[in-house]
Amino acid sequence: MSRTIVVTGAGSGIGACVRERYLKEGDLVIGVDLRGADIEADLSTPEGRAAAVAAVTETVGPDGAVDALITCAGLSVDKEVTVRVNYFGTTEVVAGLRPLLAASPAPRVVLIGSIAGGAHPNDPAVIDACLSGDETAAVAAARAAVEAGSGYVLYPSSKNAVAQWARRTAVSAGWADAGIAVNVVAPGIVLTPMSAELFADAQMKELMDAAVPMPLHGYAAADDVARVVCFLADAATTHVTGQVLYVDGGAETTLRPTTQF
Ligand code: NAI
Repeated sequence: MSRTIVVTGAGSGIGACVRERYLKEGDLVIGVDLRGADIEADLSTPEGRAAAVAAVTETVGPDGAVDALITCAGLSVDKEVTVRVNYFGTTEVVAGLRPLLAASPAPRVVLIGSIAGGAHPNDPAVIDACLSGDETAAVAAARAAVEAGSGYVLYPSSKNAVAQWARRTAVSAGWADAGIAVNVVAPGIVLTPMSAELFADAQMKELMDAAVPMPLHGYAAADDVARVVCFLADAATTHVTGQVLYVDGGAETTLRPTTQF
């Protein structure tokens, strides 16, 4: 049976691969991105997020539902916008589409986190402000980090907060009890336009290689991640929720071998 799938960041990289996979299955895919997507919206602003939710609602119609929501929109720059898009551009869209997810017989949410969220230095002030839903405070904390010369903590902080939000939300009222599974796929290094930009700088590539050791198969292709996303979003994957699944060639296990036990 054809499903309705919403993919943010559908215009590039992992999101584009997820979109392609569902189109091949004959599903209805509603892509959201800054440009070149079914719905063009800027997820760095509350207005853009609300417009995206409204446009999805209009697209599926009054009796429609969203069977899966995959949030791939994101960026990695040492500026406040990283927190705005990666955290608020994810969580507000997921929350806004909850009623349409609840209308599906097998709703699934998959958020894209990162190895950085689990294993790289972060800023608790940014994370706390995100988790309290206070975008103004989160942006102020992010700005303070940039001014202190530690803007590199913003990306890991945004992804850590996404993972924590997903775990809390998964078992909150209105989610698991409505049959909605919420999970995170946390990639290591994936060969996409985002990483290509970072790899263009030889020193940055060296830093990334050291920060994300991938003994199993090395760098991933975007479709290696999309495959796992689709597994979690499958209607037949029934009992997995609140999990952060690392698709990182062993990086997380290398960096923190005992954390989970
Ligand atoms: P990408 O740059 O190829 O795709 C990201 C998409 O997000 C783009 O189409 C972009 O237009 C969209 N986007 C950015 N800002 C937006 C905004 N304000 N509003 C709407 N859309 C916006 O990057 P990639 O690699 O496919 O990234 C997808 C996700 O995977 C991101 O959340 C990223 O943080 C995450 N990730 C990527 C890794 C990598 O090595 N490429 C590693 C770990 C996580």
